Amino acid sequence: MLLLAQISDLHLDGSERATERANRVMNHLRALPTPVDAVLVTGDIADHGTPAEYEEAARILSAPFPVLTCPGNHDIRSPYRTALLGEPASDAPVNQLHHIAGTAILMCDSTIPGQDDGLLSAETLSWLTTTLDGLPQGTPALIAFHQPPVDLHHPLPDASRLGQPEDLAALLAAYPQIAAVITGHAHTAAASSFAGRPLLVGPAVTWTLRLPWEGDHPADREQPPGLAFHILDDDLRLTTHYRVVL
Ligand SMILES: [Fe+2]
Ligand SMILES: [Fe+2]
Repeated sequence: MLLLAQISDLHLDGSERATERANRVMNHLRALPTPVDAVLVTGDIADHGTPAEYEEAARILSAPFPVLTCPGNHDIRSPYRTALLGEPASDAPVNQLHHIAGTAILMCDSTIPGQDDGLLSAETLSWLTTTLDGLPQGTPALIAFHQPPVDLHHPLPDASRLGQPEDLAALLAAYPQIAAVITGHAHTAAASSFAGRPLLVGPAVTWTLRLPWEGDHPADREQPPGLAFHILDDDLRLTTHYRVVL
């Protein structure tokens, strides 16, 4: 059994509000009586992508458990890489494989620099297939990136979802050990499915998406930050619990 937490869309911008909310969720996770196996952070970690925002992110996200990240449309690859990963500056997609408690977690880059919508680029798709082919037979896997590949019935995220979702569908068909797809970007705790796999969308730390039938203004800044707990069983069944952190 694998126990993961997911936080998303911190949008750290140097403001007291953003810092406090990010610290609040991380402190909540650090204080759990049973620590999680890892925390996934599904993009929009920084709001503008400045080096200072990533230096703050590195401080806030440092924890006694593994914290696995992927970029979102607000992130900038080069400063993200240097501050969060300790790697040389580069504009190449940020794709990382992690092994957590026997599960392969593929944190990948669905961003298109300068755009809000997403895409699994040819380079990232190639990395995904090479990485999955290199796993020992029967290794369970999860894939996480920023933009959801389906409409969530809100015009804001639906206008900037993952493009060419058929590429992802083909990948999932080829690799049945991928138990689920985990994303952020939509700023709402949502559950759906894609190509026969569960699709879990993490809530945002910064603000919550007000749905069209809930009112006119999309950004509800009064809601507390949220997080998800994902539990993966040995039979690849994923259970998700959503929380707000008061
Ligand atoms: Fe966001
Ligand atoms: Fe986003």
